[in-house]
Amino acid sequence: MATKAKFQAIKGTRDLLPPETELWNRVETTACEVFRTFGFGEIRPPIFEPTELFRRAVGGETDIVSKEMYTIEDKPGGPPDPSDSLSLRPEATASVCRAYIEHNMQQWPAPVKLYYRGPMFRRERPQKGRYRQFYQIGAEVLGGSDRPGIDAEVIEMVMTFFERLELPGVELEINSIGHSAANCRRGYVEKLRAALLEVQDRLGADSQRRILTNPLRVLDSKLDDEQAIIATLPKIGDGLCDECKAHYAELKRQLDLRGVAFRENWRLVRGLDYYMRTTFEITARGLGSQNAVCGGGRYDGLVELLGGPPTKGIGFAIGEDRLILSLLEAKKETAREESPAAGRSDVYVAWMGKGSEPAAIRAARKLREAGLRVELPAAEQKFGKALGQADKLGARFALILGEDELESGRWTLKNLQDGTQEKVSEGAVVEFLRDRVAGNRWSRETRDR
Ligand code: HAM
Repeated sequence: MATKAKFQAIKGTRDLLPPETELWNRVETTACEVFRTFGFGEIRPPIFEPTELFRRAVGGETDIVSKEMYTIEDKPGGPPDPSDSLSLRPEATASVCRAYIEHNMQQWPAPVKLYYRGPMFRRERPQKGRYRQFYQIGAEVLGGSDRPGIDAEVIEMVMTFFERLELPGVELEINSIGHSAANCRRGYVEKLRAALLEVQDRLGADSQRRILTNPLRVLDSKLDDEQAIIATLPKIGDGLCDECKAHYAELKRQLDLRGVAFRENWRLVRGLDYYMRTTFEITARGLGSQNAVCGGGRYDGLVELLGGPPTKGIGFAIGEDRLILSLLEAKKETAREESPAAGRSDVYVAWMGKGSEPAAIRAARKLREAGLRVELPAAEQKFGKALGQADKLGARFALILGEDELESGRWTLKNLQDGTQEKVSEGAVVEFLRDRVAGNRWSRETRDR
């Protein structure tokens, strides 16, 4: 018989599995808790949108839109019509702005504060920390004013979240890239383009192409050969108009007021076209070359560009895959790595003899109702095998139910960590285990802190 070909996850995508998914859940729950305290509510936009939305919002010349989107024509065979073109979202800011307009959120109390989490899709070259399906946790503030205090508060919120997770080696970089409507950005771009044209022979092919399409992106170059040349280019800070300069100075003051440490990086221009004034990026340890865990900035004018009213906007997105990688690396460093099954279960119900099966089922239900994680084997097992299985699953207690226990009404509880054993009456089992497991969890968590 011919063997059937097996399937594998598509390049750049992966399955997230337990126990790691426990960490993903913890990270997302923590984000929700922290963001709630800053007044944010959750939005869940669709995963695909009209291609044109991303083209207009993110920019047709950006790598994300021009090279990396997964686009499908929704009317196969029909005459080409741009409005039938759909794309998997490469990011969610465009969707949030679309939703803001569609639901007339300018009538909600300003500013509107929304957060989201979920998968994004970019056809990038996969490597550590870079995937084709990856996950973001992001937040946007729309409407209201463009006061730098808002920028600083948004940054403070991400930093608070990272602090809560004890993310290692967190560093914040900020910049101001000026105002596109005011002359400062346009003037700077022209000055930069002229300077780049003078050195173009010494630049790589990508940068040469960008001189015409988007000279700001040359500043983002990671090529070793280009670093010395870029250092000599005109700096955006020198060309900012008075208003943008004041905005940036106030942002720095506001970050100081909040005790948020930052470093200025005049080359931080970001890869999406909608930014103006504030841009920022946060890096963390243990990630290699893809070390940005968060990127964001101000995008006043984006809602208007998408057909809505003039609206101020600022936000960020965290790369959740990278965040998790960094947390796992930190755990390894301090040798706290546990076996894959560790923590999967609290209590293993080892039952022996058909007569004890109903009591075992009853006990499992009661313990689960009390919030404990319970393994109930589907078939009777010999004592030794049951304990071996309990050990493999990382259970802390075995609840032993055999003929003796049924007769006496006193159940045996074996502590699998220290090997001690106690008899407890059926009615007291739940309380006994809840106290011990909860106490145990608490001490583990404080130890991990
Ligand atoms: P972004 O810088 O394109 O910004 O992405 C934000 C974060 O998503 C990055 O810092 C990185 O951690 C993660 N990320 C991006 N691409 C990948 C990938 N291929 N694999 C793994 N992680 C990735 C935005 O998306 C903007 N929408 C952020 C924003 C919101 N600005 C204002 N509001």
